Amino acid sequence: MNGFSYRGGNLFAEDIPVADLVGGVGTPFYCYSAAALRDSYASFVSALEGLDAEICYAVKANSNQAVIGLFASMGAGADVVSEGELRRALAAGVSSGKIVFSGVGKSRSELTMALELGCGQFNVESEPELDLLSDVASGKGKTATIVFRVNPDVDADTHDKISTGRAGDKFGIEFERIGDVYAYARSLDGIDPRGLAVHIGSQLTRLDPFRAAFEKIAGLVWDLRKQGHVVDRLDLGGGLGIVYRDEVPPPPTDYADIVRDVFGDMGVSLTFEPGRRLTGEAGILVTEIIYMKESGGRSFAVVDAAMNDLIRPTLYEAWHAVDPVIEARAGAAVSPVDIVGPVCETGDVFAVQRDMPELNAGDLLAIRSAGAYGAVMSSTYNSRPLIPEVMVNGDQYAVIRPRPDYDTLIEMDNMPDWIAAD
Ligand code: LLP
Repeated sequence: MNGFSYRGGNLFAEDIPVADLVGGVGTPFYCYSAAALRDSYASFVSALEGLDAEICYAVKANSNQAVIGLFASMGAGADVVSEGELRRALAAGVSSGKIVFSGVGKSRSELTMALELGCGQFNVESEPELDLLSDVASGKGKTATIVFRVNPDVDADTHDKISTGRAGDKFGIEFERIGDVYAYARSLDGIDPRGLAVHIGSQLTRLDPFRAAFEKIAGLVWDLRKQGHVVDRLDLGGGLGIVYRDEVPPPPTDYADIVRDVFGDMGVSLTFEPGRRLTGEAGILVTEIIYMKESGGRSFAVVDAAMNDLIRPTLYEAWHAVDPVIEARAGAAVSPVDIVGPVCETGDVFAVQRDMPELNAGDLLAIRSAGAYGAVMSSTYNSRPLIPEVMVNGDQYAVIRPRPDYDTLIEMDNMPDWIAAD
């Protein structure tokens, strides 16, 4: 379930007509379904049943505190990659011991803060990071529990820009060097090396890359143990894909079967960092058509959302379904339309030559599967304020991030007094 369905020709978010939300918040806005978020989390949990497993939601997918808090209320920890995400996770009610700090470039101040707050695990991605963490931790008389992020050199067969586990990608430590680095870590103060982490990419729609990476990790665990190292934690990252168009992503149960098969008898506790799978399909972006125009033999629907609100189509050529909020009548003729935003870039496009029923200015459109990597990647480009986020829960809704006013946007800058405005 994704929480959005037509009833009597109207798109509903759970029990609320999407069109009714427009009066309260104005377009464009993000809309999430609490039931769909709960459902995706619960299916992940039940797939992992019987395993010694913890879910640390990858906050980067959707870092609204209501979303983090909803998962936290169901028992989730958090996977964070910056001080900002760490602060958000804490503010949303995640306890520090259930926070995993990932990321290839954690700064001294971020490591210091995370140690002071008692972050549960640091996923270390390089020797210089290890040295820095040891320095910070020992200086504070603390010990950091760490795992090493391994680069297994496995191709995730996903978009080039979100593949992270191939040799030559910036992530992790080379597979062949892990033994040496582990031994070195044991010689350092303030460091307790406990295991390995792996994350080969995002939006994976096949399981074999997961299996290939997991089997390499399992082999490495046995080698490290033979060398006398303690390996009792594995962090298996995120990556499970969702439906944007016609993908058939594997269910969490099939994914969990591979995990059981590869790691079931290893005596390790497991961490999972799903992001997109938990939030992606549970969100839509609602936008209104400002103008219809014809140019160069093409039809354009110019909508009030833009690439600054949802950059995935521009950045990754990502395909998102776009549905009219008021359903077209069955059998209505369709014709190709480019659905574009108002930003001054040709790349500001949500859909190219998409077959759509007749569209008119004033119509509302829902851009689907926008709950992950949507709001979090937005910007104020073209001085467009960030757009609101709404969470629906049955027949109630809450504005979980209001639309900022223009004054807030304008007041962010300081005008030096040596610039005179005549
Ligand atoms: N863990 C680590 C270490 C990660 O780097 C990521 C995502 C995740 C977990 C969560 O992966 P997920 O379950 O969401 O696939 N902006 C891109 C996606 C970037 C993913 C970055 N890392 C997009 O819009 O497709």
